[in-house]
Amino acid sequence: MTVTTPPLLAVRDLTVRYGTAQALRDITFDLPPNSALAVLGPNGAGKSTLARALSGLVPAAAGSFTLDGRELTGLAPDAIRRAGLVHLPEGRGVFPTLTVLENLRMATACDRRGRQAALDRAFAIFPVLGERQRQAAGTLSGGEQQMLSLARALMVDPRLVIADELSLGLAPKMVDVVFESLRRARAAGVAVVMIEQFASRALDFADHCLVLRRGRIAWAGEARLAGPELLRRYLGEATAA
Ligand SMILES: Nc1ncnc2c1ncn2[C@@H]1O[C@H](COP(=O)(O)OP(=O)(O)OP(=O)(O)O)[C@@H](O)[C@H]1O
Ligand SMILES: [Mg+2]
Repeated sequence: MTVTTPPLLAVRDLTVRYGTAQALRDITFDLPPNSALAVLGPNGAGKSTLARALSGLVPAAAGSFTLDGRELTGLAPDAIRRAGLVHLPEGRGVFPTLTVLENLRMATACDRRGRQAALDRAFAIFPVLGERQRQAAGTLSGGEQQMLSLARALMVDPRLVIADELSLGLAPKMVDVVFESLRRARAAGVAVVMIEQFASRALDFADHCLVLRRGRIAWAGEARLAGPELLRRYLGEATAA
């Protein structure tokens, strides 16, 4: 007898249009609880659109998606966030003039006790943020700001974080910091969908991989099976690094 765990995220025939342009077509996949999915694909493939659709920022023209069996299609971004799906958009910002602590406090709407517990958890996962809680977020290093952005997302105790190019524009050392932060989020029981320019690093991190091309799934499978040849074929030399 095989026992299959119900998926955390189930996406069925998801289609998104911008006006008449179809940005995503019939996207179907499952994500098991506490797993990590790397979403790869060339520029304009529809990766950010997938993230935006799952977080309610753009409407689905067709199809559906559920989190923990709960239908989320058509819900507002705030309701989706409260259901446990948190999206870190491309070029996500922290509030630069507010302190680290203020940035984190703002990220949760719960009562004082709940908020303190969430803060304690954030500082346990990211000790650096605890050390720098009085510092203005805008004066943190790039990697630390990404860490703060992720810590903000984790304040609501999400089931799933969708990180869109969290390491974009960062020096290699700071990219290490970002991956380590995501690793910690996973260790805390959070599933991760990562959209990444560093394909091979994303594949090292992830269990599953989805390659998008012109709004469709070009390849889907276990991350360890997505070898260099596949990356060259779908992503080109430049992005396969
Ligand atoms: N608001 C919009 N209105 C019209 N077209 C859009 C809009 N947002 C995205 N698109 C188009 O949809 C397609 C998919 O865009 P998307 O941002 O999802 O790509 P991506 O895979 O994230 O690319 P990148 O790697 O460059 O970030 C592109 O052709 C893009 O031009
Ligand atoms: Mg994008």
